[in-house]
Amino acid sequence: MPLTRKAYRAAILHSIADPAIVGIEASYEYFEDGLLVIDNGQISAVGHASDLLPTLAADIEVTHYQDALITPGLIDTHIHLPQTGMVGAYGEQLLDWLNTYTFPCESQFADKAHAEEVADIFIKELLRNGTTTALVFGSVHPQSVNSFFEAAEKLDLRMIAGKVMMDRNAPDYLTDTAESGYQESKALIERWHGKGRLHYAVTPRFAPTSTPEQLALAGQLLGEYPDLYMQTHISENKQEVEWVKELFPERKGYLDVYDHYKLLGERSVFAHGVHLCDDECARLAQTGSAVAFCPTSNFFLGSGLFNLPMAEKHKLNVGLGTDVGGGTSFSLLQTLNEAYKVMQLQGARLSPFKSLYLATLGGARALRLEDKIGTLQRGTDADFLVLDYNATPLLSYRLKQANDIAERLFVLMTLGDDRTVLQTYAAGQLVHQR
Ligand code: GUN
Ligand code: ZN
Repeated sequence: MPLTRKAYRAAILHSIADPAIVGIEASYEYFEDGLLVIDNGQISAVGHASDLLPTLAADIEVTHYQDALITPGLIDTHIHLPQTGMVGAYGEQLLDWLNTYTFPCESQFADKAHAEEVADIFIKELLRNGTTTALVFGSVHPQSVNSFFEAAEKLDLRMIAGKVMMDRNAPDYLTDTAESGYQESKALIERWHGKGRLHYAVTPRFAPTSTPEQLALAGQLLGEYPDLYMQTHISENKQEVEWVKELFPERKGYLDVYDHYKLLGERSVFAHGVHLCDDECARLAQTGSAVAFCPTSNFFLGSGLFNLPMAEKHKLNVGLGTDVGGGTSFSLLQTLNEAYKVMQLQGARLSPFKSLYLATLGGARALRLEDKIGTLQRGTDADFLVLDYNATPLLSYRLKQANDIAERLFVLMTLGDDRTVLQTYAAGQLVHQR
């Protein structure tokens, strides 16, 4: 295959380590006048333009951006495709919200044409917001996942998804059975897992909507295939936590239910974890599991404040999640805006470089994909963004008062949203242009 080489010149910023472990200064690389070199969809070099330009052949096309910042593509570790049409549903907290809004909305995915239409809208929305990889809940219907993967495959996106398994405590029109959930998941795994840049996630919705038999079969699936993901919800809402205690009185607590059914592990991502206790954080960390921190959802559904410092104390992997439609924005920049406030309300700080880490390399680590995405290191997939410093009049004016990259980054995360994302590239191809 002939080499396709392209180069992009702008300010360039990426995370290279967790600031909680190495300190802020050692956690990132910043090139004020940088160059990113892409060979056949992978990054082959990143550095100062003055160092790299002389190494390029004269005929290599160099795209030069003024007033722009190149970053890795953003990683959303928790989002629901079939809730795209119900973002911003009024009035309820988790359990009533599920019954009143979520289940009826997800039931529309019994219609294949609807599933295809929403998959298309959803993927466009991810890319418009600079999200190049997401860990995605489908509905209970296998075609929600088929439609999503078909659309993602066309653009060669790195995506992870699974069909919801739920065989109790939900309306009849939206449940599978332990056996059908297992068989349908298996068929989807055979079709999609490891195809191109696609991966499958076994997806029991949460402990209250699965029987012990279904949870056992979910655990069995994880044992049957290598490198499968597992995604579910945990300890989001106090009433939910009490309900799990009633449903599983024989278990020590919420996490122990999942632990018992062998659902913890290096590719397991638990959404929310707002009400986890210290011991549960320790157990999650010990098993290499990750938590998806979903601040816009936790505010919107009145769930509570995620304790990031406790997770850091245990060296627990944490990614960022929008949790659309419990969350109110597809934008991980806006999600970071809210994450900052979650920390403020707990008397803690979220530095802009920790925020960058959470939305990129931290998410990649939560998904065990840090050798492929989340940074701009040589040899990784060319999934990257061009952020526009002049996206809005206010952003443009505000950034002119900023003195360094730390301040610019923080303002981007406070004022930024989909308008800030000028271009999104996946595997070296332009997949969104504002
Ligand atoms: N817990 C179980 N299902 C859901 C869901 O769809 N959204 C949220 N935020 N929490 C859940
Ligand atoms: Zn969710």
